[in-house]
Amino acid sequence: MNTEGSNLIRNFSIIAHIDHGKSTLADRLLEQTETIEPRQMRAQVLDSLDLERERGITIKMAPVSMIYNLKANTYKLNLIDTPGHIDFSYEVSRALTAVEGAILLVDATKGVQAQTLSVLEMARQIGLTVIPVINKIDLPAARVEGVRNEIVKLLNCPADKIIAVSAKTGVGVTQLLEALVERVPPPRPTSIETSNAPRGLVFDFEYSTHRGLIVYLRLFDGEIKRGDQLVFAMTKERFVANEVGTFCPEPKPQERLKSGEIGYVVTGIKTISRAKVGETVLRFGTSLLPFPGYTEPKPMVWASIYPTSQDGFALLAQALGRLKLTDAALSFEEESSGSLGRGFRCGFLGMLHLEIITERLRREFNLSLTVAAPSTSYELVEEKSGQREIIYSPHRFPDDLKGRRIYEPWVKAQVLTPPEYSSALLKLFREHEARVLATELWGNDRTSFHITLPLRELMRRFFDELKSLTSGFASLAYEVAGLELADVVRLDVLVAEEVIPAFTRVVPQHRLEREAKEVVARLAELLPRQLFTLKIQAGANGRVLASRSLPALKKDVTGYLYGGDITRKRKLWEKQKRGKKRLLERGTMTIPPAVFLKMVSGSSEK
Ligand code: GTP
Repeated sequence: MNTEGSNLIRNFSIIAHIDHGKSTLADRLLEQTETIEPRQMRAQVLDSLDLERERGITIKMAPVSMIYNLKANTYKLNLIDTPGHIDFSYEVSRALTAVEGAILLVDATKGVQAQTLSVLEMARQIGLTVIPVINKIDLPAARVEGVRNEIVKLLNCPADKIIAVSAKTGVGVTQLLEALVERVPPPRPTSIETSNAPRGLVFDFEYSTHRGLIVYLRLFDGEIKRGDQLVFAMTKERFVANEVGTFCPEPKPQERLKSGEIGYVVTGIKTISRAKVGETVLRFGTSLLPFPGYTEPKPMVWASIYPTSQDGFALLAQALGRLKLTDAALSFEEESSGSLGRGFRCGFLGMLHLEIITERLRREFNLSLTVAAPSTSYELVEEKSGQREIIYSPHRFPDDLKGRRIYEPWVKAQVLTPPEYSSALLKLFREHEARVLATELWGNDRTSFHITLPLRELMRRFFDELKSLTSGFASLAYEVAGLELADVVRLDVLVAEEVIPAFTRVVPQHRLEREAKEVVARLAELLPRQLFTLKIQAGANGRVLASRSLPALKKDVTGYLYGGDITRKRKLWEKQKRGKKRLLERGTMTIPPAVFLKMVSGSSEK
């Protein structure tokens, strides 16, 4: 018996929708392969962040190597995870490229969900072997046969290739382990070089203060030993492999990593942002080509983050710097805003990414934060010169758009829904400027809509509304599809005749008046009355579109006078009038922090 040679390796991933049981299934695989001793076992053992275990969403499980004996052979089964959310589709594509097979895990009570479909499509394009698995068959509400039919149609596979399991009780897990060995092909080198020169694909990384950057990679060709001189093919950064090892599941140093294996390399690199998912690791001096498909992650959603108290500013700066070490997609730059003081304008891959980062800032760094409602970025193109500028803060959006065209990101989305909700959904699509590209019957009893809509509209509670309209039955997957011409303008909000930059927003022309009225009405509700008449206005293109005057507080300045000398009263009224005039002349009005917070803070959607 031996585990030598790549013939005995199986590399795989699990494709599943949130809550369909991926972490629970991983626990059973670890148990049955005895990778973890029973006394060390805890639920969802591979979910590394507290946040993940607590909220029950797995952002990404840690990779793991399992030893499995079957028919006198000892196999090494390497499981690497893909983040289940579409915000991270680039990382998903790199992780899937690093394996040969994928378990398609479907909850028997829910059926296939839209996001699973888009990841599955990626797996098919990469050419992975897909093992379909129906989970939660122990539940009374399980529709095993219905879901089986759905999968047969989806994959065009025989029904008996679908494995039914209960990740909770362990039923069917042995059959699944056998299928992994029998159906997933062993890894094969991609290069015809015979010099043992290594070529590895980075699918994840972590950062340690002492050891620097640690990359997680799939080695396709050659081998890597401790002390080898290596280089990142894209950034050209050189480094020495200070340690190499595999995940058991805790990192375990090994003599060498061989072609076909999945493991880690400690690089010692301490420079921020040198590691990128999708990088290729090569031996320094070799001429092998990097893997195709490498791209820089691009922020799509922007939000301002401020510490609740300015004392927290330095800590927030430090915390963002730390998170950036392991999250190349996060970007931030300092900004300041009247009432909130100094903070950061941050860029994220999507709404879930924003939520994860703000939660981590709160929990891991104990920060108290104000997070402004997120917005998207716009690209401005000068018509004459063709010069491009990206605007990601509404208050930097120009007032006058003459001679310029504006582009905004659009997404392509797929919605899967029981057909009875179709008409309600079509109305929702219209309200969010979505265009329906195709409608089709899907599986046994669902309708699939292919739509396209502005990212700005997707961020305007589209997901929440979709879920509530369909009682949670519809599912949504989307990807950014490109830029389209946008008909949007900048809407300013003025209090006491002064523009409040933090309240500025970019809105579509057709909703301009409605938004102007709504924002003014809301402010009028929130702002406390003053000793003078307070004007609240909203306007665009130099035109006031909505205006309200909050009447001055009537303070009874003569109330303490007893009886009636009218001249004394008059004197006091005159004095009050002068005071009000002075206030008005000074003209400024400090917006109370509580009102500010209510106006700028947004709730995030997934
Ligand atoms: P994310 O972490 O959100 O990606 O979800 P996940 O796919 O990792 O699902 P997880 O393993 O956290 O399971 C979701 C819920 O379903 C948990 O409450 C599990 O206990 C439960 N669950 C998972 N598998 C089974 C099963 O086979 N039967 C039953 N009854 N419950 C299960």
